[in-house]
Amino acid sequence: MRVLSGIQPTGRPHWGNYFGAIRQYIALQDADQAFYFIANLHALTTVRDRDQLRQLSLDTAMDLLALGLNPDQATLFVQSDIPQVSELCWLLMTGTPLGLLERCHAYKDKKAKGLSADTGLFTYPVLQAADILLYDSDTVPVGEDQLQHIEVCRDIAGSFNHVYGDVFVIPKAKVLDQAARVPGTDGEKMSKSYGNTLELFAETKPQRKQIMRIVTDSRAMEDPKEPVGDVLFDLYALFATDTERAEMADLYNRGGFGYGEVKKALAEVAERYFAEPRARRAELAAQPKKVREILGDGAARARKKASEVLARVQEACGVK
Ligand code: ADP
Ligand code: TRP
Repeated sequence: MRVLSGIQPTGRPHWGNYFGAIRQYIALQDADQAFYFIANLHALTTVRDRDQLRQLSLDTAMDLLALGLNPDQATLFVQSDIPQVSELCWLLMTGTPLGLLERCHAYKDKKAKGLSADTGLFTYPVLQAADILLYDSDTVPVGEDQLQHIEVCRDIAGSFNHVYGDVFVIPKAKVLDQAARVPGTDGEKMSKSYGNTLELFAETKPQRKQIMRIVTDSRAMEDPKEPVGDVLFDLYALFATDTERAEMADLYNRGGFGYGEVKKALAEVAERYFAEPRARRAELAAQPKKVREILGDGAARARKKASEVLARVQEACGVK
């Protein structure tokens, strides 16, 4: 079985990204073959500063490694290190109906806002299909927001197979568990676009300040409160042990506590939780050469599979 997923290097990861996606990707690395890549070609549709894009790509690799991605078990690479993906993207575009892409959310939303979209954003789902099909991937773990793109990929692969014979493995999406919808500092879903994120590798002091500013209700000290659904409790529960969680729930149910205490406890469990990854992240940051080597090895492995599949596709459609 081949599991594959891509992560766009568009910003620093936050708690929502970790619990909603990264942690789950890493848990899948024991699959026969897990391929994870840094989607820098996709990120070009939004990050248009070369130094920033390079830095974010390397940072994303370090984040994943620090959080437990094992490069001996999973293949980690940068999308643009596999030029075959661009060629496959073209071959797929020749058989992709405009209507299929016009229905895709990212493009449709931008157009609805009256903004002008470029061809990169419009054909974004075809490049994503190439990412998946190039490695005969059968399982693609993604958040719900990406399901449409996987459907597009299946459509494109299906039409291609219909015309040229059984060339592509038709992949399936594996929807990540979004039960872990992590709230942000304002109680809304944590998201870069809402400016309410708590980053995984933020400096401790400023992050404590951010935690102290998490919006709470005006409940009186002595009043009890239902824990589940409270932003602070829900965040605390992500990091706490079962016993700690039960004790905190008791405290909520009894009342007689202030939100300040809970915020302090939250900062402590979060710092404990990320202490090891943070130390590993610092070690990796001091060895960028080693990280580049890991990405180089990953790319070599990925290219091997990519050239085999691309040759099969070229043969099938008569360009070789
Ligand atoms: P953002 O909303 O901050 O831009 P992305 O859209 O880049 O985050 O999300 C990357 C991955 O992280 C997706 O798979 C998404 O489902 C997951 N994710 C993002 N925010 C959250 C959240 N608050 N709770 C759970 N998962 C999240
Ligand atoms: N579009 C995905 C996102 O924004 C990233 C991505 C690019 C991807 N190529 C992929 C995900 C292939 C899964 C498979 O999250």
